[in-house]
Amino acid sequence: MAYLHISWLCLIQTVLVVLVDKSEAKISAVVVFGDSSVDSGNNNFIPTIARGNFEPYGRDFQGGQPTGRFSNGRIPPDFISEAVGLKPTIPAYLDPTYSISDFASGVCFASAGTGYDNATSDVLGVIPLWKEVEYFKEYQNKLKAYVGDEKAKEILSEALYLISIGTNDFLENYYTLPQRQSQFTVTQYQDFLIGLAGNFVKDLYDLGARKMSLTGVPPMGCLPLERTTNILEGHACVEGYNNVALEFNGKLKGLVAKLNMEFPGLEVVFADAYDLLLEMITKPSLYGKNLWHACTSRIRDGKSGMLWYREIRDEFSMRSQKSIYMS
Ligand SMILES: *[C@@H]1O[C@H](CO)[C@@H](O)[C@H](O)[C@H]1NC(C)=O
Repeated sequence: MAYLHISWLCLIQTVLVVLVDKSEAKISAVVVFGDSSVDSGNNNFIPTIARGNFEPYGRDFQGGQPTGRFSNGRIPPDFISEAVGLKPTIPAYLDPTYSISDFASGVCFASAGTGYDNATSDVLGVIPLWKEVEYFKEYQNKLKAYVGDEKAKEILSEALYLISIGTNDFLENYYTLPQRQSQFTVTQYQDFLIGLAGNFVKDLYDLGARKMSLTGVPPMGCLPLERTTNILEGHACVEGYNNVALEFNGKLKGLVAKLNMEFPGLEVVFADAYDLLLEMITKPSLYGKNLWHACTSRIRDGKSGMLWYREIRDEFSMRSQKSIYMS
């Protein structure tokens, strides 16, 4: 489990670059939905094994302790929040040490291991996407009680909504369990997910969200777990998974265009992390020293993603922090 999530580390800077450009207008709050790529610790407060609550997670976070983020330090929404002039970290909604005064300018409903598909969240007993929406509704009520109806409405319509989800639907669910495979070809499953994504955006729109970023899936076949288990091809990226990711991202892009036309006042951007991440994997020297060499040499040694993580965490943390300040 651990290494699947750690692999998301590589996404940190990719999501940012897209978003920071798009968010010139005043952002009142950053509201986060999705999976481990953006979960700031909600899973610590539900009964699941999908938790980032052990070392070396959090090693470079302020205080040096694991926070539940699947990262050595901060995760993309934290950087984005800071970049738009809000606080440097976004608290997890289920963390009882925070209250509505903290959540008013940024809140995270994401849950590692979840997906668009209800069946995906069932795999590890994590928070389904519909439940993230239920938490959002509860949050809205708390916000209204805290700042008043009018101000709450303003905050909610001027917030930036970050959505990062989808990888687990393929890797943890479709390609791992028999149920969805017996119902859908992978193309049909993509279309099923696109339908769910559209409904989800519409739900948020109906709840007052206007500025959203929908993140595509990464080159899933190059995630450390997939490469580690691709023994027959010498731990190369699994091309089939990457092709599915590309196809799915193409459909998401189409969905985003459609949604922007369909809903007045809605501004959704498609945040494509695929190309940038693939380039980091295939041309690591462009991004710093030995990034992927560190990853692959550990994988070739047959060691876990945790070692890979140890190897690159400092470097990656430094680079991602620099890149946000420069972009
Ligand atoms: C997922 O589960 C929720 C709660 O049971 C339900 O309302 C929703 O319709 C389900 N979604 C799908 C696509 O089945």
